[in-house]
Parts: sequence; structure tokens; C-alpha cells
Amino acid sequence: MRDRIEILPVSLLESEKSTIDELKALAVELKLEFGWHYLLDLSWIIRQLDNVNGQKMIDAGAGTGVMQWYLANKGANVISIDRESRANLAPKFRRRFQVAGLRENDLRDGSGSSGGINQSSLKTRMADLVDAVKYETKTRARSADHGNTGKVIIYNQDLTELNDIPDDSIDTVVAVSSLEHNSPDGLEKVVVELLRVLKPGGAILATLGAAKGEDWYHEPSQGWCYSEATLRRIFDISSDAPSNYEQYDQLFKSLMDNEELKDNLASFYFNSGNNGMPWGKWDPQYQPVGMAKVKSEE
Ligand SMILES: C[S@@+](CC[C@H](N)C(=O)[O-])C[C@H]1O[C@@H](n2cnc3c(N)ncnc32)[C@H](O)[C@@H]1O
Repeated sequence: MRDRIEILPVSLLESEKSTIDELKALAVELKLEFGWHYLLDLSWIIRQLDNVNGQKMIDAGAGTGVMQWYLANKGANVISIDRESRANLAPKFRRRFQVAGLRENDLRDGSGSSGGINQSSLKTRMADLVDAVKYETKTRARSADHGNTGKVIIYNQDLTELNDIPDDSIDTVVAVSSLEHNSPDGLEKVVVELLRVLKPGGAILATLGAAKGEDWYHEPSQGWCYSEATLRRIFDISSDAPSNYEQYDQLFKSLMDNEELKDNLASFYFNSGNNGMPWGKWDPQYQPVGMAKVKSEE
């Protein structure tokens, strides 16, 4: 892999169709929905991964997003990091994957022993149970083909302070649309810390928001859009490493005109004006960019 910067082209929807179909199927099973550009982000990152079976990976700013579950299905051991606590991770994830906390308090006992049971929680539990049985039947068949399922280790922690992770210990870091929730100064600290824990020769594969000119903050999604100069400086990408920022306008036009993304917005966009696509109106204000940064071997 080489260092590079790539604004994500909508052609990924076609070229990575089999990965995208797999991601969609997993999302249905887990009852998750995708952010408006996430299929581009996920498929761009996955395209660059070799066999991850047995790899020690970090999903940086993972939330409960699809990437960590996808990687665990492929046999990776994933440290799932987010400053938002997942200590009360939903049973649907616990039943289907090997999940543990990195520290004692990172994952609470999932017994849900909070007292009485009402009708609606009983219904939800029954539905979860039926889904789990269906899923296990499918994955048993699948794991016979693809080997073991990896683990997801929950670590509720800020990415600037990964005190429990030793230097040079991680094969690959992935970050799906998460690092842009840091100011340029904050992002700089995050990248330093991710490079510290990465093995020499390992890579960060991250997607963020791109800005044509100056860095700017997109209030509704609470995310930054970064210029090429800022990304090169923060990720320490040399001036001869490739970038397609010169095609910014053309790529943005293809994104705006893309019917597939436009017609498949997740339901949550229609519920509020405070998101990346306020009230479900197709009106992209920025475009996603992928960063590949390989840690030097020296
Ligand atoms: C838009 S969500 C994306 C979640 C996930 N990657 C996905 O694909 O659904 C961004 C997440 O990044 C996390 N995040 C951003 N900056 C972080 C930081 N410095 N430390 C820990 N988590 C961070 C946020 O808490 C949030 O959960």
C-alpha cells in the first residue's frame, strides 16, 4: 500500500458491488442503517485491505457501525474505540459476535437485570432471539467456508489517549467518517496517537470530509471538511503521493447527480434538520475523502 488521498468516486458503487451487497446484508441482519455516503467510505477502505483473518485492527470512532462487525466476520480481532460509551451494547451484537471489554467497565454485563420486564421489552427480546437464531444458522454455514469469527473488543476512550494500547502493536487502523469530528488541531493529536500504536509498515485507512478551499465546519453533521493541504500536513503525506483533489468539482457533480445515493437515504435523515442531510432533502454539502497513510518502517 502507498500513501494517497482520494476523494471517493461514486463509481465505487459499481466497482465494489459485491462488497456493498455484503455490507447491506449485514446491516439488514443487524438492523443498522448507513449514513448517506457510508457505502462509499466502507467499500473504499475494504477494497484496500488484504486478508484480515487474524489481524489485530482498530476501528477508530467505531460507534456501533457496520465496519467492526464486518471485519470480525472476516476473522479480524478488532479494538472498537469510541469516546461515546458502548458499555450497554445491545444484545443483538453480543449474541452474534464474540464481544468483550478491554477494561472491566468498557462492557457491562449484558443480562439486562434492571428489574421488571414489560410487554414491549419482552417483544423486543423475542424478536432479537428469533433474529439471532436465523443469523446463527446462516453464519454457521458461512464460518464453515471462511474459518473463525474474530473478536470485537470494546474500548470507550478518546482517540488522543490510547493509554492501554502499546506502541507498534496494531496491524491496521480503519476509521469510517469519524476523524472529521475533530478540529484540525484535535485531528493532529489523533493521528499522532494512531501512528504510535500502529506497527511499522501498518496503515491507517480513514475517510473524512473534503474541503475544496479552506477547512470549514459543517454544523448540521458536526464535522470538519479539510483541505488537501491540511490533510497532507496532518497525515504527513509527501507532495509526490497521489491525490485527486484537482478533480474536486467534477467528482462533486457526479456525487450530486447520483440517483442511487439520493434515493436510498436512511430513515433517520427524515426525522431531523440536525444531520448531514437535513430533513431527508438530497443536498450534499461536502464529499468524502479517503486517506491511506503507511507508518514508516524506519
Ligand atoms: C459519525 S460517527 C461514525 C461511527 C462509525 N464509524 C460508523 O461507521 O457508523 C463518528 C464517531 O466517531 C467518534 N469519534 C470522533 N472523534 C473521536 C475521538 N477523538 N475519540 C473517540 N471517538 C471519536 C464519535 O464519538 C462518533 O461515535
